[in-house]
Amino acid sequence: MPTRKYLTVDDLRARAKKRIPKIAFDYLDGGAGTESNIHRNRFGFEKITLSPEYLRDVTERSQKVTLFKHNYDAPIGISPVGLANLIWPKADTILAKMAKKRNIPYLLSAVGTTSIEEIARIAPEQAWFQLYVPGQDHICFDLIRRAKEAGIKVLVLTVDIPAPSKRLRDIRNNFTLPFKITPKIISNIAFKPSWLIATLANGTPRFENMVPYMQDAADSKSLDAAQVLQTSPRLSEDFVKRVRDAWEGSFVIKGILSQKSAEAAKRVGADGIIVSNHGGRQLDCAPSSIEALPKVIKAAGPGMTVMLDSGIRSGNDIVKAFASGAAFTFSGRSFVFGVGALGAPGGEHVLDLLVDEVDKTLTQIGCKNIMELGPEYIWQQG
Ligand SMILES: Cc1cc2nc3c(=O)[nH]c(=O)nc-3n(C[C@H](O)[C@H](O)[C@H](O)COP(=O)(O)O)c2cc1C
Repeated sequence: MPTRKYLTVDDLRARAKKRIPKIAFDYLDGGAGTESNIHRNRFGFEKITLSPEYLRDVTERSQKVTLFKHNYDAPIGISPVGLANLIWPKADTILAKMAKKRNIPYLLSAVGTTSIEEIARIAPEQAWFQLYVPGQDHICFDLIRRAKEAGIKVLVLTVDIPAPSKRLRDIRNNFTLPFKITPKIISNIAFKPSWLIATLANGTPRFENMVPYMQDAADSKSLDAAQVLQTSPRLSEDFVKRVRDAWEGSFVIKGILSQKSAEAAKRVGADGIIVSNHGGRQLDCAPSSIEALPKVIKAAGPGMTVMLDSGIRSGNDIVKAFASGAAFTFSGRSFVFGVGALGAPGGEHVLDLLVDEVDKTLTQIGCKNIMELGPEYIWQQG
């Protein structure tokens, strides 16, 4: 029974590690450089302690959050994860279906392995689309058009890839798509039978959104193409304004960590920010997202919805993020670890764990409603 066996996201990560080939697991788990930013993300949350408050009636509790005029049933959504179907076949649609069932946001990556149109069909109210600004403008604006026509209401522009990062695990594993068939990779895959069978049944994942624009994407030879697509050294404020002007719905910028960038996000007319360091996959010496959050909130001002991802692994982390001022939280790896560990039920299992932990923590600190969390719940020394 998974609920008894896998009590934490870390339990699921360990199980996923056993089921997924090393090359795919490392792609999911790893980060830039020495991976100190991944550890800093965790340490940032661990440093915060909460102040338990008693003598309060907390029999009725709520975790519902309203974002961009939609009421979500839980305070966490699913961050965009490119190439998720390589980690576990159908991971994108498994998670989008779960997001629809449980009414939480699902962010489809521009380099996702399922198309915008399919995800929008699965989760019409919960699907957001995450865009990179590729070298060719026409791809960028055509993706925006497609997202609009598919009925997507929230567009998320990721801005933290001015250059590809140096991910040592991927380089050491010779990570390319399709895999280069070496004896090491064959032995690696052969010992992961459930992944292999499922992958053979579903075919090599492709960057489905890119298929109309790139032959390599259609041929599943798209890792280099994806890098070109994700990397945006020319992402000036003027260009982002053009993106903003091309989109009528809510517009969110993901990957902001500083006051100045938050001010720029405001100037270009963003409705929201996701404070994020890409889960430690971009700038190894970046601050943790929870440390960066207060400055961003201050610079963004009251009209902006400031959300956060990077490092969330438990309900306590979610409560700490809300108490620190976040309007919402997301995680990428937590949900994909769940799917890698348990297949289709894995994403929902992660959500159950997180929601249960949030509920217990809210009760323990005497807070009835996640929307009422604030700095008074953070333990202050002295
Ligand atoms: C395997 C993997 C692929 C990712 N792909 C994307 C992507 O395509 N677009 C994007 O904006 N962020 C991407 N991210 C970053 C996530 O959206 C998110 O910021 C990060 O996973 C949050 O940290 P966490 O994994 O510690 O929760 C990716 C993260 C991982 C682990």
